[in-house]
Amino acid sequence: MGLKPQGKRTGRSAPAGLPARGIALDLLSGVLRRHRPLDESFESHSDIGDLDPRDRAFVRSLVWTTLRRLGEIDGIVAGCLDRPLPRKAGAVEDVLRLGVAQIRFLESSPHAAVDTAVELVRSTGLGGFKGLVNAVLRRVAREEAAPCDPLEAGRLNTPDWLWARWVSTYGEATASAIAAAHLNEPPLDLTVPNDVGGWAERLGGTLLPTGTVRLSDAGAIPALPGYDEGAWWVQDAAAALPARLLGDVGGKRVVDLCAAPGGKTAQLAAAGAQVVAVERTPRRAERLRTNLARLRLEAEVVEADAADWRPDAPVEAVLLDAPCTATGTIRRHPDIAYLKKAADIETTARVQARLLRAARSMVAPGGLIVFVTCSLEAEEGERLVEKQLAEAPDLERVPVTAAEVDGLAEAIGPRGDLRTLPCHLADFGGMDGFFAARLRRLP
Ligand SMILES: C[S@@+](CC[C@H](N)C(=O)[O-])C[C@H]1O[C@@H](n2cnc3c(N)ncnc32)[C@H](O)[C@@H]1O
Repeated sequence: MGLKPQGKRTGRSAPAGLPARGIALDLLSGVLRRHRPLDESFESHSDIGDLDPRDRAFVRSLVWTTLRRLGEIDGIVAGCLDRPLPRKAGAVEDVLRLGVAQIRFLESSPHAAVDTAVELVRSTGLGGFKGLVNAVLRRVAREEAAPCDPLEAGRLNTPDWLWARWVSTYGEATASAIAAAHLNEPPLDLTVPNDVGGWAERLGGTLLPTGTVRLSDAGAIPALPGYDEGAWWVQDAAAALPARLLGDVGGKRVVDLCAAPGGKTAQLAAAGAQVVAVERTPRRAERLRTNLARLRLEAEVVEADAADWRPDAPVEAVLLDAPCTATGTIRRHPDIAYLKKAADIETTARVQARLLRAARSMVAPGGLIVFVTCSLEAEEGERLVEKQLAEAPDLERVPVTAAEVDGLAEAIGPRGDLRTLPCHLADFGGMDGFFAARLRRLP
């Protein structure tokens, strides 16, 4: 629900851009105070449909940037306050955050940022803080700010618990590079099954070494050439790698577990596999069907819990793209850094282990399982696979080679798992963090 003005306004009309900022405040507080996933609340916000496309894009940019830069922004706000804001003034804190984001990180007019912030505080019934908001934001607008080095900024904008984990798993230099990669708006990546070079040209995109077409400033996705005819689908460059690890799937029966929205189902179907795509959530299964229909690709979609469902007969290959904390996708979903907590890792790892056991029971002797997560946490990747290998003598790892992922040697772990990081392919704008292990059920 958007913020509706409360109380009396005297004389002046509402400043332009206030409804958009009201929605931004609602979305930001939704993440930070009500733990609501941002994509979902953006799509379903009751007032977002009233905005024109430019204002909608502004809301998106404002909230996503505020979350990407939250550590720096909070430092700036704290530097302007003599003492912390009272607890009941949470909305004031969020209004200040949005104001600082506009002044320091977006090209909004400082005057509009200050004016609308003051009005927003009044709208939330905390009008007593109008003077403070006005003074803080005017000061931020007045003071010259030296640009922060990206590595330092990356650290400042990473919650401590995540930072500590990444330093311990990857070392400080890599943790810094990961955190710095999260500062940037990610490009739009497309998987194109046919005539990739031709489509890269038509779309004005870059063809990455791994075969993904990358666009910057793409605009509305359905308006892009090739959307209606189903020539491509949106899929991060890293997300496009794991399905390839099953090798030539032409004519094979392949089970794709946890399948929606269907990027990997589409890859397998386009490569000629007979795919059974298993998805638990009906709404997401429907989205998967719609996506396949647009792409003119076929797969059998089964609505079921992958932990309980079994195929009629064992299959040659299973892809398990397990639910995870998704910390590898923070550059696209900066809210994840604030929605997830350390305890979630243990919970999702337990679910993943259960799903991997189920996958093992679906695959025929000699068949392959590719286990995938988009998490940077070793408990949901390397360590989980080690544990499963220790408990299942009928499973072996089949190491991935750099040649199979178009020479992306930096993404091959010491035991032959695929481990992409947001700082990989840095010269091209990075990629999401994915883990994939290829396992074979012994004959
Ligand atoms: C990481 S997403 C999968 C992305 C997908 N494989 C792709 O490439 O587009 C995880 C999906 O698994 C589904 N899911 C989670 N737990 C499941 C379960 N136990 N059985 C089946 N689907 C599940 C979620 O609803 C979600 O759609």
